Amino acid sequence: MHDSILTYAKSRYLWVALALGAGALAAYLWHDPGGPPNGGTWLGYTLGTIGAALIVWLMWFGVRKRSYAGGIGTLRGWLSAHVYLGTTLILIVLLHAGFQLHWNLHTFTFVLMLGVIFSGFFGVYAYLRYPTLMTRNRESATRDAMLEEIAEIDQNALALADGIDPKIHALVLRSIQNTRLGGGAWTQLRARDGSDLALASLHEAMAAREQRKEMATSEMPTMFAMVDFLAGRATDKQGEAMRKLIDLISRKKALATRVARDIQFQALMEVWLYLHVPLSFALLAALIGHIVSSFFYW
Ligand code: HEM
Ligand code: HEM
Repeated sequence: MHDSILTYAKSRYLWVALALGAGALAAYLWHDPGGPPNGGTWLGYTLGTIGAALIVWLMWFGVRKRSYAGGIGTLRGWLSAHVYLGTTLILIVLLHAGFQLHWNLHTFTFVLMLGVIFSGFFGVYAYLRYPTLMTRNRESATRDAMLEEIAEIDQNALALADGIDPKIHALVLRSIQNTRLGGGAWTQLRARDGSDLALASLHEAMAAREQRKEMATSEMPTMFAMVDFLAGRATDKQGEAMRKLIDLISRKKALATRVARDIQFQALMEVWLYLHVPLSFALLAALIGHIVSSFFYW
């Protein structure tokens, strides 16, 4: 069984984080600043410095992730430590500030940090949940293989529709042109494709045709029925082709839905990083402002 990032190395970093948090809490309870605890006492400075060092180290993960040369520890180990130590920051910073939060740059820094951390929670959720869902959704095919099969079905459907009726051919062509997999960020997250409309129209055409046939056999006078019967031989073949076409497009719809979902899962696994990373840069900037301004007031 594979370790998840949360249980990596028997949850080693969970224990490291708990020890760090417990140590900070013990120091906070033991410390008597001779006034309300705040960021300006020696313990406040110590915890603030630990917090700032942690933030710089957490941001370093982006660099570590991209250095293929390797380094100390595995990427999974780093991520496991990143997640647990990142979460401990909430406690460390609250103790640093002595739980005194006012509407100012300092608290804004804290709010940015919470934004980074909570987007990180979604990231962990996504990394734990979506890969399994993706594997199940793909049913052991690759995305490329599914796309290839869709292209093949498109060609076959067009050829088949060509033999039925120009209107049906136009309909199938339009549906192919409307099936845009991937697309913009919003389309990816919603996971839609365009086969539904074509299927609905084909079913409608089939139903209309069946109705006409029923009328021909039960209600129409014999003369007309005879004529229709002769014409019906040709349309029966068409009916057969229509049924095949509907089967093909249904198969394509199932495939396209799976590809769209695959893209959706991948997009969900990436979208949170668009909050996590920019917010962490904003946090770094605000933190520098916080530290510099604290020294001005000192
Ligand atoms: C080297 C690192 C740090 C230093 C030197 C530092 C310094 C200080 C000082 C002197 C105060 C007291 C300000 C006052 O009472 O008006 C303070 C408060 C505070 N600090 Fe820090 N800090 C550091 C790191 C951090 C970090 C990493 C965060 C959070 C991301 C943070 C968030 C806060 C908050 C929220 C307050 C309370 C502000 C308030 O009273 O409204 N600090 N810090
Ligand atoms: C203030 C705290 C944090 C900072 C500054 C921070 C910053 C970063 C940075 C810079 C990256 C690299 C992303 C990239 O370059 O692609 C990253 C990745 C990541 N962070 Fe954080 N992070 C923090 C807290 C957290 C927390 C608390 C969690 C989860 C509970 C978390 C979860 C993740 C995950 C799962 C990744 C991996 C992204 C990937 O490998 O694609 N982070 N973080």
